[in-house]
Amino acid sequence: MRTGPKLSRNAPCWCGSGKKYKHCHLKEDLMRGQPRRVVVDEHGREIIIKTPEQIEGIRKSSQLTREILDMLEERIVPGITTEDINRWVHEYTISHGGIPAPLNYRGFPKSVCTSINNVVCHGIPDGTVLKEGDILNVDVTTILNGYYGDSSRMFLIGKVSPEARRLVEVTRECLYLAIEKVRPGNTLGDIGHAIQKHAEQHGYSVVRDYIGHGTGLKFHEPPDVRHFGKPGTGVVLEPGMVFTIEPMINAGGYEVKVLDDKWTVVTADGSLSAQWEHTVCVTSTGVEILTEKHG
Ligand code: MF3
Ligand code: CO
Ligand code: CO
Repeated sequence: MRTGPKLSRNAPCWCGSGKKYKHCHLKEDLMRGQPRRVVVDEHGREIIIKTPEQIEGIRKSSQLTREILDMLEERIVPGITTEDINRWVHEYTISHGGIPAPLNYRGFPKSVCTSINNVVCHGIPDGTVLKEGDILNVDVTTILNGYYGDSSRMFLIGKVSPEARRLVEVTRECLYLAIEKVRPGNTLGDIGHAIQKHAEQHGYSVVRDYIGHGTGLKFHEPPDVRHFGKPGTGVVLEPGMVFTIEPMINAGGYEVKVLDDKWTVVTADGSLSAQWEHTVCVTSTGVEILTEKHG
């Protein structure tokens, strides 16, 4: 049985330092005798490094989440209600062996979040009819065999104003610019900075009060993944970390408020808001987007 690390002594270290493994983390890994299982964040909370078996479970759950969002693409048109979306997500999830994670999570009453126009996140599906010109975020989280996959997309309802479409596009660019920063040795601050820079260059603002998160074994785990920040700060990324990146970008100010239903988050100034989310895994060479179509 092998106990030592797999990397050869002269290979570049897994941490991304650019140094040879023998001049970097080799000694530490040998002393531990096995891959490290947790990394502690700046608040002393443990970030679980997932095993290959756990990552495979999270991958399968993430792919079911991705399929659910794909299933919605052609069904979301003017005239349907957000309750219709809730029913489609619930039934598809259950019939594929999954459980919709939002349902009863901290008292959330539905199986999916639907956030229209000035709603930032956590909108509750109801009888609201989608109308031409709306922009909508649908946030799906699936539990499959105990593993979580969390992803959200924006949907344009019929013909949408150029301003709204631009916000949706720039927010998607923010997510992908952030994902490009995911590799061993980079930091969570690099991710936040990439998002903030792109959003603010376009005159938009980044929501501060809601953030991405570790996920996979539970819905929300350490670390906190902020969508703003300074390069080179915060937790250093390591292979086996699994977390979401889910920037919420407002056309106006970043301030938000929560409605009396205790869930629906809206922009304080009534401006439009957009969000895209993926669950990603740090690999030895970079990133795997677990909730994106594979193969
Ligand atoms: N899916 C959301 C996220 O990205 C969380 C929704 S919590 C719920 O973290 F209770 F509203 F479903
Ligand atoms: Co999330
Ligand atoms: Co989500």
